[in-house]
This record gives sequence, structure tokens and C-alpha cells, in this order.
Amino acid sequence: MTDGELRFDVVTIFPEMVTGALGYGVVGRGLETARVRVKTWNPRDFTADPHRTVDDRPYGGGPGMVMKFAPLAAAVRAARNDRDDAAPVVYLTPQGGRFDDRRARAMSGTGAILVCGRYEGVDERFVEACVDEELSIGDYVLSGGEPAALVVLDAAIRLAPGVLGDAGSAAADSFAEGQLDCPHYTRPEEIEGRRVPDVLLSGDHAAIRRWRREEAERRTRARRSDLLAGHSC
Ligand code: 6GU
Repeated sequence: MTDGELRFDVVTIFPEMVTGALGYGVVGRGLETARVRVKTWNPRDFTADPHRTVDDRPYGGGPGMVMKFAPLAAAVRAARNDRDDAAPVVYLTPQGGRFDDRRARAMSGTGAILVCGRYEGVDERFVEACVDEELSIGDYVLSGGEPAALVVLDAAIRLAPGVLGDAGSAAADSFAEGQLDCPHYTRPEEIEGRRVPDVLLSGDHAAIRRWRREEAERRTRARRSDLLAGHSC
């Protein structure tokens, strides 16, 4: 990280897909005002042939195309040379380990060079030579890594110092405590016969804290008991 700046580099053949989606909400404001920067690198700009070829047919045959080693490696190396740190190169793929709150918090400290694949995948020698970690955002297949990169960027950037307005809100997040979030309500007090729970109107802040903790626990148990497994409660 350069003097407190959080920096992400994204290697993608669709840079507008990434930059265009980052201009909104807390992340958009974070990029404008906080010390966060996202820079894209297009493998097509690192080709030498007239067609700017980034993919080719798979050895062994079969459907789909595979992203070639050279343009990807050159783009990653250009991103690396443009930074003065050793931020990890992360390849986004359904074959990766699962991205979660712990990884988001780690990445909001280090930044990363994120690599988006397209087609059926990338030449495995690129992974061997250039990639530190492979990450997936869930058990389904996307047509490319760009939406996954956006998930990773959003989750990490919102945790960067100064991005969230209320310093307490990231610590109180769903998952920060290994649990789902409690329910929230705002005005009016009654909607179509559904009232806001009395305790939230009581002004008893200890009782409100207790209610929120119990609701979070109840939800986590009912919906995501897997989160409670290794947990001491
Ligand atoms: Cl990171 N990439 C792609 N293409 N599909 C995915 C994914 C990533 N995570 C889940 N599905």
C-alpha cells in the first residue's frame, strides 16, 4: 500500500463493466473522497497480433475457448510494476476457495491485483506462474470473473478506513461477529397492521441491545446454523 492508499488493480477484457459499476453509493463516494483507487488493465492492450487475440482453442479439444498465457501475464506484470508493494494476485474462478468476510477484511488492508477470467478458463500455466490465490464467490458459474471482482471490490472497499460514515457500522456488520444481522425498522410505527416491536420504541437501550442480539442469534440458528458450528455460543 502506498502511503495509506488502498489500491486495487483489475485485469479484465471488459474494463467498463468494472469501472462503470463502482460509481455508486458508499463505494463510489469512497473512490472519490477516501484514499482508495481502482485501476484496470486490459489483456487486449498486451497483444501483438492484428486481431488482438486473447483466447484460443483448448488442447485436447472440446467446447469453449481458453484465455492465452501471454496477454494475461503481461497485464498482471504491468499492474505489478505500477505498484510498489507485494499485494496478492487473486484469480477469480469457481474453482477457488470461498470468498468471505474474513478475506474481505484482509483485502481491505492489502489491496490486490484481481484477475477476471472469461471463456472456459485460463491457461493453467498462468495460474502457476502468476497467481497467489484463487477465489470463488459461491457455488454457481458466472460467464466471467467481472461480477465476482465487483463483489470482492465492494466488500473490501466499504471496509477501508474513512469509507463508511459511521465508524461503528462495519464492526457491527452481519458476519463481523459470525452471525446474521438483526431486523431493522423505520417510520411509520404501523404498516398494514404490522407494528414495530415495542422494545425498539421503549427507549431502554440495554433492552434494545439484548433484543437485537437475540434476534440475530435466532435468525442465524434458523437460516445459517453452519455459521454457529465453530462458534462459542
Ligand atoms: Cl470468481 N468466477 C466465475 N466465472 N464464476 C463464479 C465465480 C467466479 N464465483 C462463483 N462463480
